[in-house]
Amino acid sequence: MSESGLEQLRAEFDGALAAAGTAADLERLSALWIGREGKLRRLTEGLGALPPEEKKARGKAINELKLAITAAFEARGRALSAAPRGPAPDAIDVTLPGERPRLGRRHPIYSTMEELRDVFGRLGFECVYGPEIETTYYNFEALNIPLDHPAAEPFDTWYLDEPDGGKRPHRALLRSHTSPAQMHVMESRVPPIRVVVPGKVFRTDPADASHLPVFHQIEGLYVDEGVTFADLKGVLSIANKALFGAKTETRFRPSYFPFTEPSAEVDVSCLLCGGTGCPACKGSGWIEILGCGMVHPRVLEFAKIDPARYSGFAFGMGVDRIAMLKLGVTDIRHFVRSHPLFLGQW
Ligand code: PHE
Repeated sequence: MSESGLEQLRAEFDGALAAAGTAADLERLSALWIGREGKLRRLTEGLGALPPEEKKARGKAINELKLAITAAFEARGRALSAAPRGPAPDAIDVTLPGERPRLGRRHPIYSTMEELRDVFGRLGFECVYGPEIETTYYNFEALNIPLDHPAAEPFDTWYLDEPDGGKRPHRALLRSHTSPAQMHVMESRVPPIRVVVPGKVFRTDPADASHLPVFHQIEGLYVDEGVTFADLKGVLSIANKALFGAKTETRFRPSYFPFTEPSAEVDVSCLLCGGTGCPACKGSGWIEILGCGMVHPRVLEFAKIDPARYSGFAFGMGVDRIAMLKLGVTDIRHFVRSHPLFLGQW
């Protein structure tokens, strides 16, 4: 083998040595090059056949190569064992706690609305939606609320246009309850009708701990032959147990709404004290959650449904109030603020 053969061998060794990153790599390299079967040993095998001068020169060159390789080998071994243990400084530490992605979540009003929809869904009520922009006809008159009725007075209702001296029959407004949806459903379907209508409603109330100018209701409507007040009581009692717990009692108090007759306001036994009386129920043991009644025959007539043949019940619940009760929220304004209750815990 020529001088350059040895140089080539040296280059080959240097490459292999540079690639050896662990003690095990070094050991393998050692066997391959320096060991008894190694490449250097094999170099010396042909020496005996050479003329003395050449033999001397070749032997010297091989020896030098052997010394250089051994020295490089040992240096590499020392460098490897001196290298810091553990991951390289730029390695990713997989044992560090991860960063939790901040996912958004459904607003508590909307998850309550979904729960209400599910409860009434199981009782056979289909979920439909009505327009938020209404007219005086649907919001009031078709519901048997004369426009001079206190509820129709402007201080309660956001009107979207100015009175025009009677040129247009009806003014546009933001619905002040979900009840106008009753009329839309009755106009577009034939009984049996069994729907719930969740959604936003608007009133000119200033915001305080229990009022917001925009809040939520869920309307219920059931119209068929032979629907009675007993059906209304049954449905709402069952729904209240599903919503607030199996021990919940439901109480009906006579009340008045122009679009239902008879009408009632419904209380549930206080969730906090179970009915014995506490600050949340102002000592009464009951909390009011909705208004309801049998659909007024005049409302059925407005919808061209024959009141001699059909009867129905309707109810309207305040969703925000129910969410407050279920979640223990004491101020309705928290729902529209960056309150920690909703940012952190939800
Ligand atoms: N719309 C009534 C309110 O907002 C509630 C209600 C709905 C009452 C249906 C009776 C029947 O106060």
